[in-house]
Amino acid sequence: MNAQTLIDTARAMVAPGKGILAADESTPTIKKRFDSIGVESTEESRRAYREMLFTTAEMENHISGVIMYEETLFQSAADGVPFSKLLADKGVIPGIKVDKGAKPLAGAGEEKVTEGLDGLRDRLIEYRNAGARFAKWRAVITIGDGIPSDYCIAANAHALARYAALCQEQDIVPIVEPEVLMDADNSIEVCQDVTDRTLQAVFNELHTQRVLLEGIVLKPNMVISGKQCPSQAGVEEVAARTVETLKRHVPAAVPGIAFLSGGQSDELATAHLNAMNQLGPLPWSLTFSYGRALQAPALKAWGGSAEKLGAGQLAFQHRARCNGAAAEGEYSDAMEKAA
Ligand code: 13P
Repeated sequence: MNAQTLIDTARAMVAPGKGILAADESTPTIKKRFDSIGVESTEESRRAYREMLFTTAEMENHISGVIMYEETLFQSAADGVPFSKLLADKGVIPGIKVDKGAKPLAGAGEEKVTEGLDGLRDRLIEYRNAGARFAKWRAVITIGDGIPSDYCIAANAHALARYAALCQEQDIVPIVEPEVLMDADNSIEVCQDVTDRTLQAVFNELHTQRVLLEGIVLKPNMVISGKQCPSQAGVEEVAARTVETLKRHVPAAVPGIAFLSGGQSDELATAHLNAMNQLGPLPWSLTFSYGRALQAPALKAWGGSAEKLGAGQLAFQHRARCNGAAAEGEYSDAMEKAA
C-alpha cells in the first residue's frame, strides 16, 4: 500500500468545485433507465450512451472522476480509445463499482447485505491494470417496521471495511457507501437516527480493519424525509441535520464526502448540497457523487437518438456546472434560469 498515492487520489476526487459522476448502473438498472425513454438496452446502446457523457465538453471542469460498471471499464469510444484512457487524458479519474449487489441477509427478513468480497483482491488487480484508480461498494440500509436491525447494520459495516482495506492494499481509493434508503414514509428524525447508527458502525469497522481514513471518500445519503412522508423537511433543515450528523461521526481525517442523490429531483439534490456548503467552514470537502441527479435530464434529451447527442451533452454539462457550483456553495436559481 502506498499511502501517498491513496491520499493524492482521494483529494483529487473531492477537489474544490468538483464531484463524481456515478455512471455505474448495473445491466438491469440501466435497462430500467433505458426503458423509461423507450430505448433497447444492448451492449452498443449502453456504450454509445456512456460515450456521450464522457465526451461532453468542459466536463472535466466539474467532474473529478467517473464510477463505471465493469462492462464500461473494458469498453472503448467509437474511435477505439478505451474509456479509461479517454477519461484519464482529460484529467478525469476512472473508477469502478466492485460490489456484486445487495442480497437477502440470512435470518433477517427483508434486510440485505452487499456481497462481492470473495475473489475481490484478484479483481482489484485486474481493474487497476485496466486504469481504475478508485472503487465503489454500496451497502443498503432499509427503514421500516422495526428495521434496520443492529445485525444488518453490523454485517454491512463489516463488509464495507473489508472491501475498503482490500482496495487500499492495491492503491485503489475506496468510496465507502452506506446508503440509508429514502423511499419509505419515515420522518427526517428517523432518517437522522438511522444514519447516525449506520455511520457510527461504519467508522468503528474502518478503524478496526486498519483503513487509512485519509485515503477514502465517504458516500452517504443526506438526512432527509422519506419520500412517502406527508411532511417534507425543507432545504435548510436537510442541510443542517445532514451536517450535524456528519460532524458527529466522520473524522476530520477523511478528505471528502460525496453524496448520492437517491432519487431526489436533480434541482433539489443540487440545492441541498449548496445549502450544506453555505454552513461552512467544514472539516471535509462536501460534494456530489450523483447518478440520477446528474444524468436524468441528459438521458431524456438524448432519447437514444444519434442526432440528439449534442442535446444530451448540453443537459449533462448544465447539471455538472450547477453541482460544481453547489460544491462551493455558489449555486443559485439564476443558474437554472440562465440555461
Ligand atoms: P443516485 O445518485 O442515483 O442515488 O446514484 C448514486 C449511486 O451511485 C448509488 O449507488
